[in-house]
Amino acid sequence: MCAKKVTKVEREVPTTGHSWDGIEEFDNPMPRWWVWVFYACIVWGVGYTIAYPAWPLVTQATQGLLGGTKNRDLVAAEIAGWDARNAEVKAKLIATDLNAIKDDPALASYAENAGAAVFRTNCAQCHGSGAAGVQQLGYPNLLDDDWLWGGTMEDIHLTVTHGIRNTTDADARYSEMPKFGADGLLDKTQIGDVVEYVLQISGQEHDAAKATAGAQVFADNCAACHMDDGSGDRAQGAPKLTDAVWLYGGSREAITETVTYARYGVMPNWNERLTEDDIRAVSYYVHSLGGGE
Ligand code: HEC
Ligand code: HEC
Repeated sequence: MCAKKVTKVEREVPTTGHSWDGIEEFDNPMPRWWVWVFYACIVWGVGYTIAYPAWPLVTQATQGLLGGTKNRDLVAAEIAGWDARNAEVKAKLIATDLNAIKDDPALASYAENAGAAVFRTNCAQCHGSGAAGVQQLGYPNLLDDDWLWGGTMEDIHLTVTHGIRNTTDADARYSEMPKFGADGLLDKTQIGDVVEYVLQISGQEHDAAKATAGAQVFADNCAACHMDDGSGDRAQGAPKLTDAVWLYGGSREAITETVTYARYGVMPNWNERLTEDDIRAVSYYVHSLGGGE
């Protein structure tokens, strides 16, 4: 019965002549509505490329009679608008004495906000998004009042402008702790002794006899930079060794490693990457975080 029906249809509709494993394909015309929608799409497509930016050329696409939504232009205009609105406050930030910024509420609030944004983009990857630094890795906490190179506005501004121990700015802050162990300046016993002394002055558990011997090693080899009492020297970025704040760690192992191989913390200079107003803003922001002097 089925076969009979197929035969009847076959008479009315020709096949395409294709045959796969005996299965044949009817050559039905496309539905009318589909064909008209198809033509309409082509007409719409051509019209669209005339009306709106479409065809890529060498430098930019054809602009189209209606010019499109011009999102790029809108964004550029918005940025230019903000720049124009901020131009005055930026110029003022550059012209104002570093220590007088805080006395001008509008300027201070701009510096704080712009500085926070600059910090998030450029500083957080090393100093942490909350500026608490990364313990043991040598990225200092910027929230406390324990400064390597100083915490006044001028100090911070100089550090950020020129960076620390980089090779890209001749004015970068510079100092270098000797590799006492690796370069054979001190032997193992002397290093062991001075480490116990550092543990002692930082108020940690230590071997008293070794620490006493270590005091002399310290006076002879370390005091020039870390001072006689271990209070550190900001002119050389030599950390204070008498508190619980450690850049590279205050354990016996970490201090031994520091004395044996030394450390060499590097920070990029920002004078080539940031504008002066941004450097001032971020310096103000860091200064305002709590530890500013
Ligand atoms: C690539 C990592 C890195 C980035 C990015 C970085 N810093 Fe630093 N920064 C350091 C290191 C390392 C030190 C400590 C260097 C040393 O041992 O003296 C430091 C030190 C500082 C100090 C001195 C702290 C003190 O106790 O005297 C300040 C201030 C500072 N950074 C601010 C910034 C600001 C602001 C930015 C962003 C504009 C920034 N840093 C971006 C690595 C970085
Ligand atoms: C030429 C100056 C200089 C001398 C001499 C020197 N240091 Fe240092 N020391 C530094 C500097 C600079 C740093 C910081 C290095 C950095 O930030 O990368 C440092 C860091 C340290 C630290 C790490 C502190 C921390 O917070 O993690 C310890 C510990 C230390 N020194 C102990 C000593 C001892 C002990 C001696 C003597 C055997 C000594 N230093 C001699 C300059 C010196």
